Amino acid sequence: MNVVLLGPPGAGKGTQAKVLCEEFKVAHISTGDMLREAVARGTEMGKKAKAYMERGDLVPDKIVVGMVTERISRGTDSPGFLLDGFPRNKKQAAELDEALGKENKKLDMVLYLKTSPQVSIERLSGRRVCVKCGANFHAKNMPPREAGICDDCGEKLISRVDDEPETVKKRLLVYEDETKTLIQYYKTMGILKEVSGDLNVGELFRDIKKFFQLESLT
Ligand code: AP5
Repeated sequence: MNVVLLGPPGAGKGTQAKVLCEEFKVAHISTGDMLREAVARGTEMGKKAKAYMERGDLVPDKIVVGMVTERISRGTDSPGFLLDGFPRNKKQAAELDEALGKENKKLDMVLYLKTSPQVSIERLSGRRVCVKCGANFHAKNMPPREAGICDDCGEKLISRVDDEPETVKKRLLVYEDETKTLIQYYKTMGILKEVSGDLNVGELFRDIKKFFQLESLT
């Protein structure tokens, strides 16, 4: 099963992707995680992407599309993949379709996490991530056992640089201008499913899981 998780910053894509991939054994392909890793390792791609990410802009399509198509063509051990944060505009969506077509693959479902801007802002202002393993927490909604310390590896938790209020505003505008057009694109293709991203983590997982279960029966 090949799935795209679509939704604004803070919709909970990364949080849901983690549990969905464990439960349904699909590979998690997160462009945000791949880009952050490239920045942290100081690769050529990371150097090019860093400034765009810190400003809250999209990294140029050429870089991101190349990164994702290479990852998909390498294949996975899993029976499918979950794309988190890609595609983010029509050009990326069209290039994804083309790349999948060449491999006789297709998207089965696009899950749109419809989330209000107030919820996005509240979640991103409280998000804390582990400097070492990248685990994701929220100061109020999903607090670590010990404040400021990662439950998984014991390292320090910090805020993401692009979670600064001004950058979040920019990211939400970019989402409105570029990514939201994909809702109609996938509706027309007949593969869009909508859930409320405003629900808490467990409720949202319950709703998304129903679509996964239905899709795995087809
Ligand atoms: P990326 O990392 O993909 O950021 P994003 O799409 O803005 O999404 P976020 O990671 O901020 O939010 P999320 O929906 O995953 O929410 P999360 O689960 O973490 O991209 C970062 C940057 O990379 C982009 O700005 C761009 O520069 C670049 N980039 C990436 N992909 C690109 C592409 N395709 N093209 C070009 N550039 C690209 O949850 C957020 C917080 O809320 C957490 O603290 C969590 O604990 C909490 N939480 C989660 N779910 C819930 C819930 N249901 N209830 C309460 N709290 C919750």
